[in-house]
Amino acid sequence: MAKKIGLLTSGGDCGGLNAVIRAVVSRAGMLGWEVIGIEEGTHGLLARPPAIQPLTTSMFDGDILRRGGTLLGTTNKGNPFAFPMEDGTKKDRSGEIIEAYKSLGLDALIGVGGDGSLAILQKLAAQGGIKFVGIPKTIDNDVGATEFSVGYATAVDVATQALDNLQPTAASHSRVMVLEVMGRDAGHIAIAAGIAGGADIVLIPEIPYKMERIAAKISRLRDLGRNFALAIVAEAVPRIEGTAAETATGRFGGIGRYFAQLIEEATGAESRVTVLGHVQRGAPPSPQDRLVGQALGVAAVDTLAAGKSDRLVIWQNRDIIDVPLSDAIKAPGAVDPNGLMIRTARGLDICLGDN
Ligand code: F6P
Repeated sequence: MAKKIGLLTSGGDCGGLNAVIRAVVSRAGMLGWEVIGIEEGTHGLLARPPAIQPLTTSMFDGDILRRGGTLLGTTNKGNPFAFPMEDGTKKDRSGEIIEAYKSLGLDALIGVGGDGSLAILQKLAAQGGIKFVGIPKTIDNDVGATEFSVGYATAVDVATQALDNLQPTAASHSRVMVLEVMGRDAGHIAIAAGIAGGADIVLIPEIPYKMERIAAKISRLRDLGRNFALAIVAEAVPRIEGTAAETATGRFGGIGRYFAQLIEEATGAESRVTVLGHVQRGAPPSPQDRLVGQALGVAAVDTLAAGKSDRLVIWQNRDIIDVPLSDAIKAPGAVDPNGLMIRTARGLDICLGDN
């Protein structure tokens, strides 16, 4: 039976979202289904009339697959169950979203989001009787169930390239270069880029560090005749006394500068910091993210076509499967301190702050 489905992207943007959209539209088109794009996540369903754009396959003939960002727009603010109002109060606006969804005559919804957005979308779907399938995206790669979320590979590419670009200048000036990367509470970007980019020191929130170990690593490198060092630090790594480096808006930020200073004090090595920030999110999607995004997009439509709902499509063991949404998002996926990445890093004598 022909269906009309809604599609939205929610939470922080990342590389590969347009690839997901393209795949959903393409697969749905093959089934004779209509796709209505909802703008700026759930905000599009709070607008009156709802902010939507019909999506057709011909829109994707050009360069959209290759572009960063999301053509639908997104938001990582404004939980509809506690929506911040102008007068400073919080209001439950979930009913308005469900009402708009119904007014559009949609049969199902596909939402692309991280764990926070997916939890909100699941709650809305349960309340409104909406058939819902989720697709995991986040540069942080911390949606527990999936091996890869859309956007992660691009962020790792950008961070690796930053280390590639820092190495020559570090060597030219005999400096320690500290690169601060995103990742929210997880160290996935830092550890993967650290290994790929040949970092000497990788600090992630999952592994407690000691400043003496970091200083000792730098002196070992000196003893070997090395005049520079590369360090990568995940934004959520706490300061020595245990507090997180946060900006005034409650976002992480500043731990790179903190370490650059500590390293100078502890070793006398001249240090500089680079804070990579949102270039990890807005870069053109890597081939891996275009692949993961399109595979998940096709699978999401097929999951709905199979009559399933309240599922998350995930990448696991060289395949895509769908799993119950609640199970998939119940625990954030941190870096496993005994997992492959950490074993590899230790095998390469990368200093993780505890060795
Ligand atoms: O969750 C994705 C992410 O990029 C985190 O890595 C980072 O801490 C946060 O979003 C930044 O959020 P904003 O775009 O609101 O500054």
